[in-house]
Amino acid sequence: MDSQITIKIKNISKSFGGLKALENVSFSVKTGQIHALIGPNGAGKTTLMNIISGLETADSGEIIFNDKPINKLPPEKRTKIGIARTFQNLELFGEMTVLENVMVGMYLKYETGFIKSGLMLNSVRKVQKDIITKSLNILDYVGLNHRKNEYAKNLPVGEQRLLEIARAIAADPILMLLDEPAAGLNIRETKNLSILIKNLKEEKQITLLIVEHDMELIMGISDTITVLNFGKVIAEGDPLSIQKNPDVITAYLGEED
Ligand SMILES: Nc1ncnc2c1ncn2[C@@H]1O[C@H](COP(=O)(O)OP(=O)(O)O)[C@@H](O)[C@H]1O
Ligand SMILES: [Mg+2]
Repeated sequence: MDSQITIKIKNISKSFGGLKALENVSFSVKTGQIHALIGPNGAGKTTLMNIISGLETADSGEIIFNDKPINKLPPEKRTKIGIARTFQNLELFGEMTVLENVMVGMYLKYETGFIKSGLMLNSVRKVQKDIITKSLNILDYVGLNHRKNEYAKNLPVGEQRLLEIARAIAADPILMLLDEPAAGLNIRETKNLSILIKNLKEEKQITLLIVEHDMELIMGISDTITVLNFGKVIAEGDPLSIQKNPDVITAYLGEED
């Protein structure tokens, strides 16, 4: 039996002026996998994440999520049907507390439920209590409970990255997109991050698409790796085959560290 596909990227192209950021990019993310998207700077990785989450529109091609095309859905709808993400350049609500940032993540998913429940005060109270309890559980899960009442902007980068993941978990996603989650993390934090990501897959059954430059992290957690270079897929396979792939090695040699 073929493994199931959670998201299918089909012939996606995107240009910015004369620059072809993505050219006919196709690949599939299998359900339950950690799928890495790697490639040198400027390869088009963030652009693809933006197209999947609906922040950018592709010039052509299709995104199929759970067998349905989602190209026409706005970002908030995509969150509701199960696509959550974090950002390469952190996008937290700095003036809100850590706990509030996670609560917002839950709100993004259940907005309509809130409005309906607004008809009855008792159920509003119940929903609020429920959201706080669940949000605190998520903070526990990522190891940020001790920070719950601090402003997000006051956390060090490593903890801000964890908070973005916590907010994404709050949306109860089927698919989580992580854009450079290890950027700015030290070795210890990166190790913890790799455990957290594996737990998202194994305990929470979340399918993950991860853009990351830390090769040790990627090789340690990924089931499948797709390599982009100048907007094109140049290789795909398991970590071992990717490490040995001459096209991949050449692409990375061209990049200064
Ligand atoms: N909004 C934009 N306007 C113009 N050019 C862009 C824009 N976003 C990305 N690019 C360009 O598209 C290419 C791919 O960028 P990006 O997707 O951010 O790459 P990566 O995440 O792989 O480093 C780069 O050359 C970048 O400068
Ligand atoms: Mg990027």
